[in-house]
Amino acid sequence: MSSIFIDACYGRKVPRTPIWMMRQAGRYLPEYRALRIDHRMLELCRNPALVAEVTWQPLRRFPLDAAILFSDITVPFLALEIGFEIAPGVGPVVETPLRSAPQVAALSIDEMQGKLDFVAQAISLLKSELKVPLIGFAGAPFTLATYLVEGKPSRDYKTVRKMIYSEPHLWAALMEKLTDVTLSHLRIQAAAGVDALQVFDSWVGVLPAATYAAAVLPYMSRLWKGLSGLDIPLIHFGVGTWHLFPQIQSFKPHVVGVDSTVSIRAAAAGPLRDTVIQGNLDPACMFASQDVIAASVRSVLEEARGIRGHIFNLGHGVLPETPIDAVSQVVDLVHKGLD
Ligand code: CP3
Repeated sequence: MSSIFIDACYGRKVPRTPIWMMRQAGRYLPEYRALRIDHRMLELCRNPALVAEVTWQPLRRFPLDAAILFSDITVPFLALEIGFEIAPGVGPVVETPLRSAPQVAALSIDEMQGKLDFVAQAISLLKSELKVPLIGFAGAPFTLATYLVEGKPSRDYKTVRKMIYSEPHLWAALMEKLTDVTLSHLRIQAAAGVDALQVFDSWVGVLPAATYAAAVLPYMSRLWKGLSGLDIPLIHFGVGTWHLFPQIQSFKPHVVGVDSTVSIRAAAAGPLRDTVIQGNLDPACMFASQDVIAASVRSVLEEARGIRGHIFNLGHGVLPETPIDAVSQVVDLVHKGLD
C-alpha cells in the first residue's frame, strides 16, 4: 500500500501533509451514538464486526489519510481478568485498585493473545477493505498504571506518584508486568496486520524529568527494543511532555505526537530535531467560526513548514459534540495546504 501517511512517518518527502485525528471515531458522530444505545463501550470493543463498523464511520464522512482501530487502552485489562468498566462520561473505573505486592504478583499475562483474539479478528476484517493505513495502539505502562493504581481517572495522579517514590520495588514490579502487557497488546496488532502503532503515554507529563528517567524510561526503552523487529512506524503520544522530549527521543520513535501547547517549530529546532512531529490543533477550536478554524489550521501548518516531517492531528482527541462540519473543514484545509 503506498500511503502519504506512512511515507511521512518515515520522514520521506510527501506531496501534502497527511491528516488523521485522535478519537476520530466516537461520540461526536450520531452514527456512533446510535450504536451505543444498544451496546456498552466494552461490548463494542469486543465485537470484531462492530469494531470494524465504528472504525469505518469517520472514514465514510471524511477523506482522512489513516484509520485508527476502534478500541481502548484498557482492553488488555479484560485479558488480565481485572474487574473494571468504562463508565459513561467518566472513563475507566477499576473495581479493586492495584496497590500491593500480592496483587501485582497475581497479574498473569499468560495467553494474552488467545484472550484478545477479537482484536486480531477486527484488524483482519478492516484490512480486507480499508484503502488507507490502519493504526493500532496501546497504552504505555505508566498510563495503564494510572488507571490500575488510582482506580479511576485522576487529576493529579497522587497515588501513583506516591507509590513511585515510597515503594520503588512495588512500582518496578508493576512496570515490568505492564511493559509485557503493552508489548503483547502491540504485537498482537502488528501480527494481525496494522500498518503503524501509536503508544499513548497520555498522562506521563505529570512526572518531573528525573522521575521519568528513573521510573519510566527504562521500561519505555525495553518496550521500544521489543518492537524494533516490526517493520512499521511507531508513534509516541503524551500530553505536557516538553520537558521529557530529550528522553522520548532517546528511544527513537519514528513520530512524536505533541499537544496543542507545544510550538512545533521550537520542538523541531530543538528537542525533537530527529523525529517527525504529529499534531497539534487545539480540538476546542473546532467549536468556533469557520474563520477561526481556518486561522488555527493555518497556524499549525505554518509552524510545521519546512520541518523534517509533519503529520497533522489534534493536540488531543476530538471532543464530544464537536460539529461535524468543523471536522470536515479541517480535513479539507489540510488537504489544500498553505499556498
Ligand atoms: O482514536 C480513536 O478514534 C480510537 C479510539 C480510542 C478510544 N480510546 C475510544 C474511546 C482510543 C485511541 C482510545 C485511547 C485511550 N483511552 C486513551 C489514550 C488517548 C487519550 O485520550 O489520551 C486513554 C487515556 C483512554 C482511557 C479512556 N477511555 C478514557 C479516559 C475514557 C473516557 C473518555 C470520555 O470522554 O468519556 C475512555 C472511554 C472511551 N474510549 C470512549 C471512546 C470512544 C468513550 C466511550 C463512550 O462513552 O462511548
